[in-house]
Amino acid sequence: MHAGHEHRGQFSSKLGFIFAAAGSAIGLGNIWRFPYITGQNGGAAFVVIYLLAVALICLPYLFGELALGRRTQRNPVGAIQAIRPNSPWVGVGALGVITGFFILSYYGVIAGWTFGYIFKTLFHNTVPFESFIANPWLAVPLLGLFLLFTVLVVYGGIQNGIERWSKILMPLLLFLILLLIVRSVTLPGASKGLVFYLQPDFSKINGQVILAALGQAFFSLSLGMGAMVTYGSYLSKKDNMVTSGVSVAIFDTSIALLAGLMIFPALFALGEAPDAGPKLVFITLPKIFAQLPFGTIIGAAFFLLLSIAALTSTISLLEVAVSYLVDEKRKPRKIAVWMVGGATFLLGVPSALSQGAVASLSELSFFKGKSFLDLMDFIWGNVSLALGALMLSLFIGWVWGIDRALEEINEGSGFMNRSLPGLSITYGKLWGIFIKYITPIIIAVVLLNVFQSF
Ligand code: TRP
Repeated sequence: MHAGHEHRGQFSSKLGFIFAAAGSAIGLGNIWRFPYITGQNGGAAFVVIYLLAVALICLPYLFGELALGRRTQRNPVGAIQAIRPNSPWVGVGALGVITGFFILSYYGVIAGWTFGYIFKTLFHNTVPFESFIANPWLAVPLLGLFLLFTVLVVYGGIQNGIERWSKILMPLLLFLILLLIVRSVTLPGASKGLVFYLQPDFSKINGQVILAALGQAFFSLSLGMGAMVTYGSYLSKKDNMVTSGVSVAIFDTSIALLAGLMIFPALFALGEAPDAGPKLVFITLPKIFAQLPFGTIIGAAFFLLLSIAALTSTISLLEVAVSYLVDEKRKPRKIAVWMVGGATFLLGVPSALSQGAVASLSELSFFKGKSFLDLMDFIWGNVSLALGALMLSLFIGWVWGIDRALEEINEGSGFMNRSLPGLSITYGKLWGIFIKYITPIIIAVVLLNVFQSF
């Protein structure tokens, strides 16, 4: 990752960028959020829509964010400011910074539970999940602790610590997931889970399901709020942004798909409901661990690695707001980090208390009886990302301009000048059509649909 002290650093290599961007993308979104959203939205049909969203909407859009960042060498606000100074478009960048800050506030709560579960597993603590998260004396300090880790990493520079660690630990997480898949699919009764997860029933698709898929795709790839603009700003001109972007998307999507394969067979084998929501992973996985030899160690290791995956994501969420304060408000980096970290903690407290600790936060009557955390996730982790992506593609396509964006994408790649197999249209031309028309129209239609249903 970037050194990011007084001067803007750059990734040490193309691989460094891929690891950092994949580190941002791969996190609780893949292992905690993807399975539960899939479960709530009908299973395999949702997965199909999700994959379409990643390939057709997110991937083209990802190149746009990366190009904007590499060209302007700025955070999302600064990037727009560099291209169209003092225009209302700057507000889109600001929305991104705010969105990142809000996502971090509740993401930190879940990350805190994950961290707590390392010790819960290790010490064979039998408190049920519901009571664990309803305990304010656990949820709030765990949130604070996790944000503290994030602050310390972003504060101290990242290159030597986390970047090196992730290279070793993330493959280990993948290995554990594969091991758990083997256990999960061989449990008696697992096949019902495989059917739910892999055999699409397209009658389950409606506007809500499509928004959930689109929102999950943006969330999982860290798109829609300028995180990838910031990361693109640390990408070298020599690097091939197309292959780097594709690699990140493939890594991220594979981990999500594997997480589903780990959860659903076990879930059905254990007779649990797939639409149980955010608690899905925390309830199902410990039951699989209990059935494994060395289950305690495997379980604790799993939650440790998941915490680290979450940390590489919270770093990127914090980094966007910090780089904004450093670049635009001339705040010293070390002060900006503590400011944003502290504010995020305060903002996260209601989410932490919304899982049973405080009744009025736990069941919001105007939000189908769901919790404050669910509300935050819906507004910021879903709608706001889709809205941000809509506005940013309009900005890139119509204000910055397709030609200039393509020039930047092609730098170090040249891919966009190639023609599609057997056709006379270039990838660049097709990309332009997506960014200018298809992406914004699809997102707008999906969003309008959802607002109508409220
Ligand atoms: N993508 C991360 C995950 O899947 C979460 C995340 C990190 C994120 N940075 C982001 C989500 C920026 C949206 C925008 O866990």
